[in-house]
Amino acid sequence: MKTKQVKIIQPLESIRGQITLPGDKSMSHRALIFAAIARGNSKIRHLNIGADALSTIACLQKLGVSFQLGKFTVDVNSPGFFHWTQPPDGQMNCGNSGTTLRLLAGLLAGKPGLDLTLTGDASLSQRPMQRIIDPLKKMGANIESHEGCLPIRIQGRNLKGIHYVLPVASAQVKSCILFAGLSAQGKTYVEEPIATRDHSENMMKIFHIPVFRNKKIISVHTLRRNVQGFEYSVPGDPSSAAYWVAAALMLNKSRILLRKMSLNPTRIAYIRLLKKCGARIDILPEDKKIEPVGDIVVYSSGLKAFNINNRIVPGLIDEIPLLALIAARANGISRIRGAKELRYKESDRISTSVEMLRTLGVEVTEYEDGMDIKGPVVLQGGLVNAYGDHRIAMTASIAGLIARDAVQVQDWKSVDISYPNFYPILERISKS
Ligand code: S3P
Repeated sequence: MKTKQVKIIQPLESIRGQITLPGDKSMSHRALIFAAIARGNSKIRHLNIGADALSTIACLQKLGVSFQLGKFTVDVNSPGFFHWTQPPDGQMNCGNSGTTLRLLAGLLAGKPGLDLTLTGDASLSQRPMQRIIDPLKKMGANIESHEGCLPIRIQGRNLKGIHYVLPVASAQVKSCILFAGLSAQGKTYVEEPIATRDHSENMMKIFHIPVFRNKKIISVHTLRRNVQGFEYSVPGDPSSAAYWVAAALMLNKSRILLRKMSLNPTRIAYIRLLKKCGARIDILPEDKKIEPVGDIVVYSSGLKAFNINNRIVPGLIDEIPLLALIAARANGISRIRGAKELRYKESDRISTSVEMLRTLGVEVTEYEDGMDIKGPVVLQGGLVNAYGDHRIAMTASIAGLIARDAVQVQDWKSVDISYPNFYPILERISKS
């Protein structure tokens, strides 16, 4: 093992101060996609410039959309959805990004004249795509895949609207179908048994695309006119904020202010859960826009154990590895169930979280759809393999701050997927 691949995180006494968050990853993907749908010039501020958003940019460039990337701003010029062009090599590489792949698949399926083969890295190539292939085929799409995995070839066709009940709660699958609905004949309905993040619908509303929600059913009409270019500022990422929230809660004498974070209710279930367990977190809403934003202040807190079930999993899906770590410091046995979807993320996050916690001396029982974690324990240090998964790498790094001894994180470079500035910020707050 090369030492270069290991990041050593030393224990810390407390963290204090203020952190500016990166732009939300999910909203950054969607803002880029809408800028490509729109005709003319758009400007997106506070974009998440992680590797996943860069994958979305690279894919959209292939359709004839141009991007000028500043530090956290991007200027976009697009011929518009009705004038996307076929790339000569017919290839689109989505890197590590499931959101890029699933959202774009929906848009490309309904565009006759486009013929594209979508690929990705080793992790994305193992993730399940049948979940988007099935509904898209029902809409009339022409898709070939390698046994439900990448590479996927999509030959654009005229689609028809359907009513689809999601078999798994997934915002990516929901968005894929809604995006396909934009070019389908007739209305498209997606029924979601449990609500998932609603950024695609929100952004459609912002651009006056007729999208409606009636209880569990979301419907969208065919897009018949050009969307005009726009300016948009992406709210701070609550999933990136979660790491600092966890550090402040678990370290003594800590207080951290996180500015301009998304307060979208479909994204902050982890804050609601932690508050129920005794976390002192003040929420200071700023405005009541379609995508609400505000500051939060987090203080050191004693926590009690929690239960997570399938009803709340979609609202905190990306925070579960971190919550599993927090459970190790909470009083009692925490139970996570109904979270089998974690097995299909950038790594099998049930297995990688369990391995991480056991390495750090925590008693964990693994289940097919979750785990039980016994707390509170003083974490020992150790070598944690993040298996190329950004959320495991960041969780292991926070573990290093609260452990008795240093934690070495292997494969830490994956943090670039969502949070390239994570380690510089960690270094800054460790010194202050
Ligand atoms: C995302 C949805 C979630 C989440 C992922 C981003 C999105 O996946 O895990 O990181 O931007 O739509 P699901 O499709 O499981 O909801």
